[in-house]
Amino acid sequence: MTTEIDIIRPDDWHLHLRDGAMLKAVAPVSAALYGRAIVMPNLVPPVRTLEDLRAYRSRVQAALPGDTRFRPLMTLYLTETTDPAAITEGAASGELTAVKLYPAGATTNSDAGVKDFSRVHEVLEAMQKAGVPLLVHGEVTDPAIDIFDREAVFIERVLAPLRKDFPALRIVMEHITTEEGASFVGEGDENLAATITPQHLIINRTDIFKGGIRPHLYCLPIAKRENHRQALRKAATSGSPKFFLGTDSAPHLVSLKECACGCAGIFNAPVAIPYVAQVFDEEGALDKLEGFVSRNGPAFYRLPVNEDRIRLRREAPDPAIFRSVDAGEDGSVVVFRPDRPLEWSVVSD
Ligand code: DOR
Ligand code: ZN
Repeated sequence: MTTEIDIIRPDDWHLHLRDGAMLKAVAPVSAALYGRAIVMPNLVPPVRTLEDLRAYRSRVQAALPGDTRFRPLMTLYLTETTDPAAITEGAASGELTAVKLYPAGATTNSDAGVKDFSRVHEVLEAMQKAGVPLLVHGEVTDPAIDIFDREAVFIERVLAPLRKDFPALRIVMEHITTEEGASFVGEGDENLAATITPQHLIINRTDIFKGGIRPHLYCLPIAKRENHRQALRKAATSGSPKFFLGTDSAPHLVSLKECACGCAGIFNAPVAIPYVAQVFDEEGALDKLEGFVSRNGPAFYRLPVNEDRIRLRREAPDPAIFRSVDAGEDGSVVVFRPDRPLEWSVVSD
């Protein structure tokens, strides 16, 4: 029985680092383990221009330990006024790794997102030409659509037509949560991939209401029924290069999670890799773990894999790993802790 494995250092292909005191609190946590991360642009106000991107990258860099090897990969927030020239310029200089599409109103800080897709055609054309991936929050915002159906309907109404109109546009369907998402991506060509989060591999919608309402298990897209969780575990452990880790670690102050209208977002940065290792172990697929967390992402983004390695061991971690992270005078952030013991650790020796 395998009890220890060495893998290439992982990357996080979907991460929220925020700004200000929160950025200072959470950036070192991800930097301690990952080689790189795709940094989400949904700040208030969002990262809309190359000037915003450069300024945010400097703030991120300033929040990292001086000797870090971690590299933030920066993204722009797509709006109906995004300048196609910024895509071309950012791609050529290497400053821009991807562009994020939030349908307006779909999730946290998405109000400036896209309402009318015909208004972003020129930008998508520029991205297609420059090979810049479009990262999609795949949920419709139509209030008539049940929250548990929003991903499947998005595929039908938005993503499938978008793929037809822009067949060479490289698209990552972010944080897929459904069987429909897994099969749409699995059956697509090499221009389509998906990230999967640790929480969607571990919890289903019933877990959110186990013994009471659990705000720290609430994120968007919301966890679905058990059959969907099983489909995601199958996709992640399949060995297909189209699926890779994007933690969607999304910190919110405890006061904004534990209240009458709690924010969506799960902060999993300290525990994501050990929990994902545990999932692969449970599925008898530890040999596929390195592909999912360290190889498939760079292959899609056309980047080299990280040069160094990390070691994982089947042993309970120091419980301090679950300690809330202090985010300054406004409060702290609770770490993802599903109702399952964690049996894997990242070890340094
Ligand atoms: O749960 C979520 N939180 N989903 C998102 O798409 C955004 C994120 C956030 O920024 O808090
Ligand atoms: Zn996200």
